[in-house]
Amino acid sequence: MTYRIRPEAPADHPAIHDLTRRAFAPMAFAGGDEQDLIDALRSAGALSLSLVAESAGKIVGHVALSPVTHESGEGGWYGLGPISVDPAIQRKGLGGALIAEAKAWMKAGGARGCILVGDTRYYPRHGFAPAPAHAPEREPSAYFMVLTFDGPPPFGRFSFHPSFYGEG
Ligand SMILES: CC(C)(COP(=O)(O)OP(=O)(O)OC[C@H]1O[C@@H](n2cnc3c(N)ncnc32)[C@H](O)[C@@H]1OP(=O)(O)O)[C@@H](O)C(=O)NCCC(=O)NCCS
Repeated sequence: MTYRIRPEAPADHPAIHDLTRRAFAPMAFAGGDEQDLIDALRSAGALSLSLVAESAGKIVGHVALSPVTHESGEGGWYGLGPISVDPAIQRKGLGGALIAEAKAWMKAGGARGCILVGDTRYYPRHGFAPAPAHAPEREPSAYFMVLTFDGPPPFGRFSFHPSFYGEG
């Protein structure tokens, strides 16, 4: 499969929404509103990065980054997700390629690191490490992971953007 990873364009918004809904629908842990979160982040001006993978004119992959805060006040941290790959082409490396592009973008911008809530079997291969002590209060700490570019995070908890809780 050949694909091109690029920043989203306005015409991609419906396809991103639909892809995210289809990718998360079979997942037992899904809230069912992951596609709405992307729209909410965008409306709030908090979609720091939104990359699509396009193949033969179709959007087959997507990853979002948004700003997060840390109780220490330290800046430079992002939240990764939602991330979606078309169910028909999962496990072919596209998810990894999207994460790599998002990491490159953060590094180039001098970010400190990135957080996410996800499967602890999948994300360590991309440099994320479980960090339950840093988990936001409203998140399951066992699934909370941090990727750092420049040393460990400071003592204390992170918080996702309020849009994650319908408060954005
Ligand atoms: C998670 C997701 C983006 C990964 O994209 P992908 O293109 O399938 O991933 P890659 O091909 O880069 O990596 C595949 C590897 O990751 C593993 N993997 C992928 N998703 C996984 C998951 N949810 N749990 C555990 N392992 C997973 C696979 O086992 C595979 O490894 P293997 O081939 O050695 O078995 C994609 O599966 C997806 O859209 N899932 C539904 C939505 C979702 O769960 N998003 C993440 C929420 S945290």
